[in-house]
Amino acid sequence: MIQSLATARGKVLIREAKPADAVQFRELRLGALQDSSIAFSADYQKNLNHPLKYWEDMLTMQPDESTIFLATREGNLIGMTGIARGSSPKTRHGAYIWGVYVEPEWRGLHIAEELITSCFAWAKAREIVLVKLGVAAVNQPAIRCYERCSFTTYGIEPRAIFYEGKYYDEYLMVVNLDDK
Ligand SMILES: CC(C)(COP(=O)(O)OP(=O)(O)OC[C@H]1O[C@@H](n2cnc3c(N)ncnc32)[C@H](O)[C@@H]1OP(=O)(O)O)[C@@H](O)C(=O)NCCC(=O)NCCS
Repeated sequence: MIQSLATARGKVLIREAKPADAVQFRELRLGALQDSSIAFSADYQKNLNHPLKYWEDMLTMQPDESTIFLATREGNLIGMTGIARGSSPKTRHGAYIWGVYVEPEWRGLHIAEELITSCFAWAKAREIVLVKLGVAAVNQPAIRCYERCSFTTYGIEPRAIFYEGKYYDEYLMVVNLDDK
């Protein structure tokens, strides 16, 4: 399903990714890893060398296990968010959001909020009852966005990220979908 979001900069569409998005998706994801080094545990240099097949595989989802939502403007990818549910029968009721990213010129328009809302709808349709994520404790814009989406902090992972000689703690956040 395609969602439409009216923003001050025009209409943005939200839809699920497919393997044919691989070339543009690679650009978006590499841009994210380069632009926001401490926001993601994935590493830019390591990802730079992956062949196109790696990106196509990433976008070849197993139905009901995971998906990636993309924000697009006039056919160009401007944002993304992934969600994956637990793989064991004992953890399938929960899911994890990863890779939340909006290109710098499109921030502040609540596009990430819409991507996360799409993840919630995807999760609820699969009887997932809670969604978790981790966010660097210094990442105020992301924390504000997650709080607006009803996430609350349930713990801190000390020194979750090590980058350029510094450690960064992560807040562990959760939202209960029963309340949504
Ligand atoms: C975090 C992020 C995804 C939020 O996306 P977004 O679509 O801009 O989200 P929102 O519009 O809801 O804005 C969230 C907050 O960003 C800040 N913000 C507003 N305008 C902004 C702008 N032009 N540029 C940067 N941040 C801005 C504000 O603090 C805002 O919160 P507020 O409206 O309560 O003041 C985006 O900033 C981003 O991609 N950052 C880099 C990657 C990242 O940190 N990802 C999170 C990984 S856990």
